[in-house]
Amino acid sequence: MSGGILVINGPNLNLLGQREPSLYGTQSLAEINRELESMAAAAGIRVDFFQSNHEGELVDRIQQARDNFEVIIINAAALSHYSIAIHDVLRAVNIPVIEVHLSNIYAREEFRHQSLISPVAVGGIFGFGALSYRLAFLAACEIIRK
Ligand code: DQA
Repeated sequence: MSGGILVINGPNLNLLGQREPSLYGTQSLAEINRELESMAAAAGIRVDFFQSNHEGELVDRIQQARDNFEVIIINAAALSHYSIAIHDVLRAVNIPVIEVHLSNIYAREEFRHQSLISPVAVGGIFGFGALSYRLAFLAACEIIRK
C-alpha cells in the first residue's frame, strides 16, 4: 500500500523512558508511537514505525520507503550528527523529511550542534520531548493534505 507516514528512530531510542529521563522524558517509544497511531487513525492516514540501533538497517528501511510513503519523520539520534549514509539515502528517496529530536540539540554539547539531517529535511522540531513527535506528525499530515 502506498501513501502515509513512516516514523524512523535511530540508536538507543528503544531505551526511551529508562534512558536519561531528565533529558528524554519518561515515555517509552511504544507509548509515543501509540499516540501517533491514534493521531493517524483520527486523520485517516497510514503510519508505520521502524527503530534500529544499526545504521545499515536504517538505510535499508529508508530505501524501501521509496514509492511507499509520502513523508518520513526521523529521529536519527546520534547518527544525525555524523551519518553521511543517512543523509545520502534521505536525499536519494526524494520523500519530504521532518527531523525530530526530543532534546534541544543546540543547547547541548557542541558535537550535537551539527545535523546532517537538517540539510535534507523540509523542517525540524526539537526540544519538546515526546511532543516533538506529535508536532512533527501534525506537520506531516499538512504536507500530505497539500
Ligand atoms: C536525540 C539527540 C541526539 O544528540 C542523541 O544522540 C540522541 C537523541 C534527541 O532526540 O534529543 O540519541 O536525537
